[in-house]
Amino acid sequence: MTQEQFLAALVCPQTQQPLQRSADGQTLTAPDGTTYSVIDSGIVDMIYPRELFEDDAREQHLYDLAYQRYDRGVSWVFETLNHSDEAATRQFMISLMELKPGQTVLEVGAGTGKDSALIVEQIAPGGTAVLSDLSPNMLRLATQKLQPNDVNVHFFLGNGSYLPFPDGTFDSVFHFGGINTFSERKKAFAELTRVVKVGGKIVVGDESMAPWLRNEPTYQILWKANPLFHAEIPLEDLPSNAEKVTWHYIFGNCFYVMQYTKAAQAPQIDVDLPIPGKDFVDNWRLRASKVEG
Ligand SMILES: C[S@@+](CC[C@H](N)C(=O)[O-])C[C@H]1O[C@@H](n2cnc3c(N)ncnc32)[C@H](O)[C@@H]1O
Repeated sequence: MTQEQFLAALVCPQTQQPLQRSADGQTLTAPDGTTYSVIDSGIVDMIYPRELFEDDAREQHLYDLAYQRYDRGVSWVFETLNHSDEAATRQFMISLMELKPGQTVLEVGAGTGKDSALIVEQIAPGGTAVLSDLSPNMLRLATQKLQPNDVNVHFFLGNGSYLPFPDGTFDSVFHFGGINTFSERKKAFAELTRVVKVGGKIVVGDESMAPWLRNEPTYQILWKANPLFHAEIPLEDLPSNAEKVTWHYIFGNCFYVMQYTKAAQAPQIDVDLPIPGKDFVDNWRLRASKVEG
């Protein structure tokens, strides 16, 4: 997909309606009059809402300030967590998508591109990687690091809870490291799932300390130092058509990575299925009366 085709494929991040392109192709206007523009480095700013919710605005600001320190220092965080092998763990997370050459992948919260490089490797040759983040400075650094020849790479600034693509655009979607602070986390899961094809994989991870370790002395230190380790794996935020859901604890069991597949529809419960005999009904009545008793 060329950059031209990528820009033409973008839709309104709120309504998924088509966008009107300006004569020079650099500005996109939604039916409600909101405009989105190509900024520097070929990055198109698709952030919605234009005035972010408080938590998202704070994260954007903090990462914009700390992008160099993050890029240099995040490996140290993983090193403290059971001397985890960061490269192998990131490779494991990416492997959960079971990517193939030629596929089209979206990464939300790509940051400075640490997982993006691995995604690009897996879809070469001929694939398309669409990399996004809320922080311009984080994403600019990613653009400098990623310039592969045999994969199309496109960048946009975006909020993971409002994705500017039609339903079923991607073979897989990946996010690691930010969802705990998203202002609208349930909506983000709905969006990550919406833009994947039926049968495609969604892989998401972030901090969540394994419950059986929370009283260990060194884990107690972490627990106090960073409230994000208190987060639970957000299973209640998954959409109803998520299936084959599995998760692993990683990085010293202080983070999780979950994967699920998008089903065509939510599982159906058949409340009209005929009951197989009166004794079956009596058995259920007996159980219910014991509970009441
Ligand atoms: C901890 S960093 C992880 C970056 C990268 N995935 C990695 O593993 O190195 C979290 C990233 O999520 C981005 N982020 C935070 N809130 C976001 C949102 N609502 N939508 C998209 N990205 C967001 C931040 O700007 C930041 O780059």
